[in-house]
Amino acid sequence: MKFPQQGQSPDALLSQLDARKGNDVPWEEGRVFAYIYDAGPEAKQLLKDAFSLYMTENGLDPTSFPSCMQLEKDVIGMAVDLMNGGEQATGTFTSGGTESILLSLKTARDFYRDRRPDITEPEILLPTTAHPAFHKACHYFDLKAVLVDVDDKFRAIPEKMAEAVTDNTILMVGSAPSYAHGSIDPIRELGEIALKHGLLFHVDCCVGGMYLPFARELGYSIPDFDLSVPGVTQLSMDFHKWGYAAKGASCVLYNDRELRRYQIFSYANWTGYAVINPGVTSTKSGGPIAACWAILNYLGREGYLKLVDAAQQASRKIVDAVEAIEGMEVMGEGNLNMLAIRALDFDIFPLADEMKRRGWYIQPQFGFANSAENMHLSVGYHNVHAVDEFVRDLTEVATRVRQQQMGKARFEIPEELKQLIIGAGPEVLDQLTELLGDGTSLPDSMVEINNMLNQLPADSREMLLGEYINRLYNPDQH
Ligand SMILES: Cc1ncc(COP(=O)(O)O)c(C=O)c1O
Repeated sequence: MKFPQQGQSPDALLSQLDARKGNDVPWEEGRVFAYIYDAGPEAKQLLKDAFSLYMTENGLDPTSFPSCMQLEKDVIGMAVDLMNGGEQATGTFTSGGTESILLSLKTARDFYRDRRPDITEPEILLPTTAHPAFHKACHYFDLKAVLVDVDDKFRAIPEKMAEAVTDNTILMVGSAPSYAHGSIDPIRELGEIALKHGLLFHVDCCVGGMYLPFARELGYSIPDFDLSVPGVTQLSMDFHKWGYAAKGASCVLYNDRELRRYQIFSYANWTGYAVINPGVTSTKSGGPIAACWAILNYLGREGYLKLVDAAQQASRKIVDAVEAIEGMEVMGEGNLNMLAIRALDFDIFPLADEMKRRGWYIQPQFGFANSAENMHLSVGYHNVHAVDEFVRDLTEVATRVRQQQMGKARFEIPEELKQLIIGAGPEVLDQLTELLGDGTSLPDSMVEINNMLNQLPADSREMLLGEYINRLYNPDQH
């Protein structure tokens, strides 16, 4: 698109924007099991109204916009309360789980730089199930990520985590729960290790913070996971997932406000205003914090209990249906609303394509470490009314795909091509146009691509997908 010479009317622009959604996944029909967190029409309207009320206010400067600061204090107070933080607990409102995690690891790095300058190559202990945001933080902040295997239910193994501690370890991570399988790490046991070795300990509650407390209150058996567990020093928790807030809403919490000091960037050595940023961003729209404040107060504990109850019941229906499909199983414990389902004796990737043809979106996950390739489902309130139809379609489609695929050779990446890709740089994409297209648009069927990626080492997947995105996101010059 070229820069326009003349402006257009708001009506014309809004209808164009609306029309552009035509090829997106049909989330409003409840047929999408990832990315979407929607608590219904009244909640959505409230988010829109609250967001637009504060869209222009700038949280960058609390002295000019005390309203934004007060909203943040309220929201962090509610989060600390839910996560059972003590008197000294505090936190920062952020744009998402990734920013919360980036800040937590930058804080850990700077804390150790101050307290233990002898550690020149700091290490972070990560179960293989930890979210990539931790690896991104290691990449950005020059920390060494040390991966540790998990058990067959995809939970961290305390003994293995303890064995991986070295003189350079500064922080360990546990998830409550992990995104991929919905497994909760043994936070209490990990906390003991953190205390014994004097480590910081981050619990990733990005998906669990606004879910597990309510699931526990409903009677589900949830192991200890929050700021009250001895040894836990910091925690990430998203409002824009199971808090059903507008996107751009998460927080990082610390059990001790002394630690949070290392998070804050403060700069006055320039010709302009003093920049004091608790988070990664500087200019900060008041929209996300206002919408977050509004939804937390609109739903309250009672509202979240209802939402979690509905999501748990819908998830149970899916788990029961999957267990009844021959050749399929739920991975891990499968007792929350974050599920991974896999095929035991057939290629699972055609299932995603076939379900897509029926208007459902389920998310392919590649094999890594002890986790085989599978399909992920995040089950939320917006899926509840569609879940009976979903399990009918899933049962029918999976049974058919199994019949078609069983005994049939899967797409195998030729060994020669595999070796070529493993040794190559991004230019290798030019030789894959038959499979991937010319890289300017998305392919229809993902079966071959998913199988190819699944058969490549993770490093090669990263390289190919990184380059693919680099080619895909270029301006349309027509
Ligand atoms: C467990 C967990 N941690 C961190 C993140 C990253 O959050 P965001 O996508 O909001 O940056 C996610 C996202 O799904 C997650 O599930």
